[in-house]
Amino acid sequence: MVPVMKRILVTGATGQIGSELVPALREKYGRDNVIAAGHRSPPHKALVEDGPYTTLDVTEYTSLENIVRKFQIDTIFHLAALLSAVAEEKPQTAWEVNMQGLYNVLEVSRENNCAVFSPSSIGAFGPGTPRDNTPQDTIQRPNTMYGICKLSGELLCDYYFTRFGVDTRGLRYPGLISYQALPGGGTTDYAVEIFYRAIQEKKYVCFLQKGTVLDMMYMPDAVRAAIELMETDPSQLKHRNAFNLTAMSFAPEELAAQIQKHIADFSISYQVDPVRQSIADSWPRHMDDRAAQHEWGWQPHYNLEEMTKDMIKRLSQKLRAEGQNVT
Ligand code: SER
Repeated sequence: MVPVMKRILVTGATGQIGSELVPALREKYGRDNVIAAGHRSPPHKALVEDGPYTTLDVTEYTSLENIVRKFQIDTIFHLAALLSAVAEEKPQTAWEVNMQGLYNVLEVSRENNCAVFSPSSIGAFGPGTPRDNTPQDTIQRPNTMYGICKLSGELLCDYYFTRFGVDTRGLRYPGLISYQALPGGGTTDYAVEIFYRAIQEKKYVCFLQKGTVLDMMYMPDAVRAAIELMETDPSQLKHRNAFNLTAMSFAPEELAAQIQKHIADFSISYQVDPVRQSIADSWPRHMDDRAAQHEWGWQPHYNLEEMTKDMIKRLSQKLRAEGQNVT
């Protein structure tokens, strides 16, 4: 039977994924049925004006439980987490937010019969994992705090499904590229920053070295994937936490070359950040996402060329509307 999502809670709603997932869910399920919960205050203006918004610290179980009960939530998209580079700076906080937060979401879901979407990442793999065509089921020995939390999260979500029957589902997202909200301190952030610098200054200093190929995806595909996975009839799912997912793979110089097709005098240079470089070197260059294709029909809509074209157009429009300088 296809699951019905009637009352949805999105944690981390002001973040890079949340700020686009919330409007997409509200469009589909009704504005009052999607409760956006963010840690930040004051929150994103549109999230408050376009539907219910609440402040939430996911490490506080009682606050979470009160929200779930008050709004009669049946599905939680749990996005609140620290990204990879920040997690290396603050590993203790990362464990607290990423693991305690997820544990609280799973417990509240067990008690209140909610389905849970929890994003995993290319970060759930490590240096011992095959980096090309990374299999769905393979070696996972991540060596970053972010990755350790993601892998532990995958296991915990599967445990809550098999042990308690909580309908947990997840995706291993590649680096995500978007123009609405900035990513909050990840290793793949260069692929977002580069567009801002290209449009505003025509030059970018990249913190990853030339030749660093990573898996990537444009946000409209990432948002659609989360919704499609949660709408899939559970009898189709052999895997749950979490599906490999990809749309494109490129190195910084390949992205720069695409941008140069639109901004001819754009230039890229390199000043490598050793921490983020070593994180990137431990992640897949390209995941094999055939399990997602076969089990729930995953297909990306944007490749590198289409993403670049759309990003430049929409980010330029956004920056102009905000009164910012666009070259
Ligand atoms: N984009 C994330 C990061 O770089 C990976 O999931 O941290």
